[in-house]
Amino acid sequence: MAFDLLIENSKGLVQVRDSTPTFLSGSEMGNLPILPNAYVAVKDGLIVDYGRQEDAPSEATQKVDASGRFVLPSFVDSHTHLVFAASREEEFVMKIKGVSYEEIAAAGGGILNSAKKLQSISEQELFDRSMPRAIEIIQSGTGAVEIKSGYGLTVKDEIKMLRVARKIGAETGLTVKTTFLGAHAVPREMTKPNYLRLILEEMIPAVAEEKLADYIDVFCEEGFFSRDETLSIVEQGKKFGMKPRIHANQLSRSGGVQVGVAAHALSVDHLENIGDEEIELLKGTQVMPTALPFAAFFLGLPFPPVRKMLNAGLPIAIASDYNPGSSPSGSMPLMFSLACIKMKMTPEEAFNAATINTASCLELLGSHGSITKGKKANLIITKPAPSFAYLPYRLGYDWIDQIFLNGKRINYT
Ligand code: NIG
Ligand code: FE
Repeated sequence: MAFDLLIENSKGLVQVRDSTPTFLSGSEMGNLPILPNAYVAVKDGLIVDYGRQEDAPSEATQKVDASGRFVLPSFVDSHTHLVFAASREEEFVMKIKGVSYEEIAAAGGGILNSAKKLQSISEQELFDRSMPRAIEIIQSGTGAVEIKSGYGLTVKDEIKMLRVARKIGAETGLTVKTTFLGAHAVPREMTKPNYLRLILEEMIPAVAEEKLADYIDVFCEEGFFSRDETLSIVEQGKKFGMKPRIHANQLSRSGGVQVGVAAHALSVDHLENIGDEEIELLKGTQVMPTALPFAAFFLGLPFPPVRKMLNAGLPIAIASDYNPGSSPSGSMPLMFSLACIKMKMTPEEAFNAATINTASCLELLGSHGSITKGKKANLIITKPAPSFAYLPYRLGYDWIDQIFLNGKRINYT
């Protein structure tokens, strides 16, 4: 077979698997397969072969020498809000001065501030402002991403956000999954019951009509949407073909995990405030507990009790939560380091959490999340590194040297 691309002499192919499990949980998460001194071959955008260097094919259109470097599958980021109109560094300064995230939100800042800005610009303008963030995450090693709406809060603006998210997928090499998050906050000019009616009766059908969302999400939190409201919204979403994922237990024991389990959500995300009861409930379910370590770090919240959850046999995913308020970074290498430093995950557990488990909860495990024959050739070649653990250890150092999406070298500079 004539290969399009051959990456050879790699110090190690990381996350190499002949076949992939449905997800990794508990003690399995500590096992990260690395094939030393190896090659990987690509054709038509897919991984078609890999093995020990001594067995490497000799012919390929393009050859890349990866001596001293690791080759990784791209990260899969299963939770972002990267379509937004403007940054919110003024709130960052308020928080430094002691105002809390909840106080900022209650004063009309936060999500409502982002919504006001987004409502005032066109779809094209929103696309133009969001694309640099898509390029930024590609350059930091993400190959597939979930993007939520939730800064529109009107039928037409939620649709505008989701169209932009879809267009980002169409115009970059990123694989994009979209989530309708109309229930992110109640607009200032509406009552809660009226807004709920708008979500249930108008937004969900309109989003479904254009097939704009793969999933539905709700910010289940005190001061935002209650447990019962969350359940009725996601059940309506399911009727229109959108599977649930839930913003759960970020600022309080909101009942979000209970709803996630009851509604068979694909994931429950945040979990800074979960207790033993929620951990028990998650056992034996297919709901992916997802930690967003930069959001916890940025807001000064406790980190989810990941070691306790792993000891209980649960899986863990980690994602960026890229958004202008609580997590102004889409860097998965940063999440990888924070998961190790702040949540005491080993490098192997954290990398599994950011590839296999995020791909699993985005229903992308057939094509993403590992170096496996037949999967997309979404690959990262690192700079020279003495060991795999060196990567998360070098927090703040850009250890990525080259990126390939669908077998093509990405170079935006
Ligand atoms: O995931 N928690 C709710 N939504 C976002 C923050 C949104 C914002 O502050 O703009 C989050 O942290
Ligand atoms: Fe979020």
